[in-house]
Amino acid sequence: MTGLVIVVTGANGGVGFGICHRLLVQLSSPCPTDARPSFDVPQNGTYASLPHVVKDEYDFSPEDGVTLVMACRDPKRAQGARVKLLALLDKHIAGLPSGTVEHSYATVFRRGVRVELETLDLASVKSALDFGKTVSKKYVVLCISALSLHHATLSTRGAEPGQVSDAGSAKSTKLNRLRSRYPYISHLIFNAGTATYSHLDIPGFVYDLFTQPIFAIQHPTRNIQVNGITSKDHLGYAWQCNVFGHYVVYRSTQDMLIKYARAKGPSARVLWMSSLDAEPSFDPADDWQLTKTVHSYQASKWQVDFLCHALEQRAIRLQAAGGDERRAGVSFPELVAPSGEIHHVTISPGVVATSMSALLKIPIPGYQWLMLAAFWVVRFIGSRHVLMTVYAAAVSAVHLALVPLRAVPTAADVPDARPEEYPSWHSYCDLPSPRTALLRFGSENDRWGKEAPGFVPVPVWEAHPNAGEVLLERFERLYQAFAAAEEDRAKGALT
Ligand SMILES: NC(=O)c1ccc[n+]([C@@H]2O[C@H](COP(=O)([O-])OP(=O)(O)OC[C@H]3O[C@@H](n4cnc5c(N)ncnc54)[C@H](OP(=O)(O)O)[C@@H]3O)[C@@H](O)[C@H]2O)c1
Repeated sequence: MTGLVIVVTGANGGVGFGICHRLLVQLSSPCPTDARPSFDVPQNGTYASLPHVVKDEYDFSPEDGVTLVMACRDPKRAQGARVKLLALLDKHIAGLPSGTVEHSYATVFRRGVRVELETLDLASVKSALDFGKTVSKKYVVLCISALSLHHATLSTRGAEPGQVSDAGSAKSTKLNRLRSRYPYISHLIFNAGTATYSHLDIPGFVYDLFTQPIFAIQHPTRNIQVNGITSKDHLGYAWQCNVFGHYVVYRSTQDMLIKYARAKGPSARVLWMSSLDAEPSFDPADDWQLTKTVHSYQASKWQVDFLCHALEQRAIRLQAAGGDERRAGVSFPELVAPSGEIHHVTISPGVVATSMSALLKIPIPGYQWLMLAAFWVVRFIGSRHVLMTVYAAAVSAVHLALVPLRAVPTAADVPDARPEEYPSWHSYCDLPSPRTALLRFGSENDRWGKEAPGFVPVPVWEAHPNAGEVLLERFERLYQAFAAAEEDRAKGALT
């Protein structure tokens, strides 16, 4: 297996499932439409000028297949989603006219598709650290023909490629082979997310819907959240699930991403799922773990945007400086790959109906149909951010996963891009200046439902222009404290 290895968190439902489905459909095509450049980038755009990424990044070949790792907290739900996903891919391939290039390409590709399930509960730092260990773990594959066993798999932590376990060499009559569970990771797609909703303020929402329908759907304020909800690690629950848990996964799988970049040439990518709803609605000095704000969902997505941006800025600087940390002026160099080989992009699915609305506990039977009707109307009257299926909402994630990086603009490449209009209740309404910090790549569609990736310029938070960098260093200190505590605990358990 030499193809892409893509991890998707929260892959068992909603947008995460849509991303997995769309990835498989796209990769089974000889010309994946989502991998085609979609934005105008000036010739000397940020990425185009970096030597490391100017070549076309992914040399798709059907024989390579793909390994899709569905990282989910509930193994049962994950298994159900895996079965559904493979059935959808088979149905798609069966629908291609036989005898065509497309059909034979997809048939060869299908043989190389591996869909793996891994457990990951983002509300537990231990689970996120264990996830990192599990995906890089190595196994000995034993073929013991004398015992009529086809495969017996033993875990041999710490063994190097080429080594053979003693237990295996003593007993087996045939071959012992050491295999990494995964050779590397090419993409992390940080999709999983949640919110600490208590309920929907129905009269308020109906009022907003009739007075400002597009804003009511794109920037809802009537999803009432409660503060003070913490995980068993005593961290803000929404903060940990949406941002910090993913940061821990990134740091504990970073070596696997670097392995990909070194083995295959192009850079590895981390896609961070944000939202149109992202808003700096927290106190960065006093509430960075978002336990006090009653807008922890919006604030966690703001942190996603700016954490991702801070990591990417460091990667770009390091890459441009040829890996020289001092010249790049990068502190905490271990947060990024030594020569900036890991790139970070912030994405959004737009607005789409998923089971996240169940968290609002709406007491109206069949409310999902009313919601779909409202979405349809809002899209028809002009919102390009409201989509009707999770497959369509996955377009930004899949495009940003597959397109060459030189075809992806940064804020520096589009200096004239201006933030969108925000409603009167939004922190970004009446911005003192329209300075853009970064671009968030979101799924969009036209009135007839034709989806395409777009981008939204995200404004600088003028009151705290350096908040992303400050947060990143705090995240790193907390990550190191948890990782050290976990190591001590593991050592203690051994002695
Ligand atoms: N739908 C939208 O309109 C919209 C808009 C903007 C942004 N988003 C973002 O898109 C992403 C996907 O949301 P969605 O709408 O697809 O919601 P969803 O249907 O509720 O899916 C959320 C996924 O995240 C998983 N998850 C939640 N908490 C987790 C945890 N502690 N550990 C591991 N996995 C966890 C869920 O697993 P379980 O099934 O086990 O609960 C589920 O697979 C989220 O980041 C969300 O913020 C969605």
